[in-house]
Parts: sequence; structure tokens; C-alpha cells
Amino acid sequence: MSTATSPVTDFVHRFVPGDRAGARPLLLLHGTGGDESDLLPLGQMIAPGAALLSPRGRVLENGMPRFFRRLAEGVFDHEDVVRRAHELADFVTAARQQHGLPPPIAVGFSNGANIAAAMMMLRPEVLAGGVLIRAMVPLPEPPQADLSGRPVLILSGAMDPIVPEADAVRLAGQLSAAGAGVTHEILPAGHGLTQADVTLARRWLAERG
Ligand code: MLT
Repeated sequence: MSTATSPVTDFVHRFVPGDRAGARPLLLLHGTGGDESDLLPLGQMIAPGAALLSPRGRVLENGMPRFFRRLAEGVFDHEDVVRRAHELADFVTAARQQHGLPPPIAVGFSNGANIAAAMMMLRPEVLAGGVLIRAMVPLPEPPQADLSGRPVLILSGAMDPIVPEADAVRLAGQLSAAGAGVTHEILPAGHGLTQADVTLARRWLAERG
């Protein structure tokens, strides 16, 4: 392993090996105040038998784990977004080597969806795609990335008090401009996860093997 790569142990995490041949692994990224156990049940529901890699965000906001710093709700510390996205990408690369995994599909909720989107734009080779639940634009001016061949499902809530619909539409535009195959669904929901998110994510993943 190269010394530039973060060791797997840099992130508290859980790894659940897969037991279905050919199932794409999932990288599970929790929301603010969550941890490495939060999204394991979701991962098992939407991709039964897939390997699950689930790190805990390393930034603490009043004791609540997150994946990057924010200055206020919806106002991000962009330098920290970039730094933390690279750290997480290095962790994923090291974990893939350790467990012999192909590039995972990120499944992120809220803050986890935002770091997944940042990682896709900064380190496009690390992820095979993403399911971004209640995501918003993490970087106003992302670098030009080549995301061609990488599918992304964005699931937004029409009544989300944290993520304005226009912001999610802008994120979809950024990812499409980079070549990703984006599907953007706006659900009759707020910021919280709903059964419709689970159903749509499971169907979308099943269509991609
Ligand atoms: C973020 O901080 O990433 C978003 O505002 C969503 C949240 O985590 O509350």
C-alpha cells in the first residue's frame, strides 16, 4: 500500500462481506449525527447480499459525527469539503484493496449524500455511481470530472426544509455536465427517509445488477 493512502483504520467503520456473486458493493454514508451502523439495514434492504462498507464521519459538530464541516445549516466550509472528500476517497481505496472489492456505489443520506457527490466530482474513479438521498450542491464550482458511464440516482423531497429543490436540480446539472447518467426523482416527502426512497433505490440498484 502506498504511504499516500490513508490506512483503512483511519475511519471507524463496519464492513459486512457480500454473499451474492456479482453484487456491486455499497459505500454507506450516514447523515449528521449518525454513525457506521445507521445505514446497514438500508443497505441490506436495497441490495441484499451486497458487501457493505460503512464509515463514520470524522468531523464532530456538537458531538454529532459528520463528513465535513459546515458554518451553518446548508452553508459549507468548502476547503474542508475538498479535504474530507479526499480523505474518504483514500479510505475507500485502501478498504477496496484490503477486501478485494470493485469500486462501490455510494449510498448517502443528507450529509453523507453531499460528501458522496463531492467525492464523485473530485475523485471520479473511486465510485461506480451513487444513490444520493436529500443531497445538495457540496461545491459551487467543482473541478471538471469525467463521470461518463457512472449512474447517479438523486432522491429529493418536495417539502424538504433543508434542501431547496433548485439546489438539488443544480447538483443534478453539475453531475450530468460531467457525463454521469443522472435520474432525479422528487418525492412527496420532507428531509427524512421514506418507504418510497427504499423502493426506488432498490429498483434502481436491481436494474444495474
Ligand atoms: C449538510 O450539512 O450536509 C446538509 O445541510 C444536510 C445535513 O446534514 O443536515
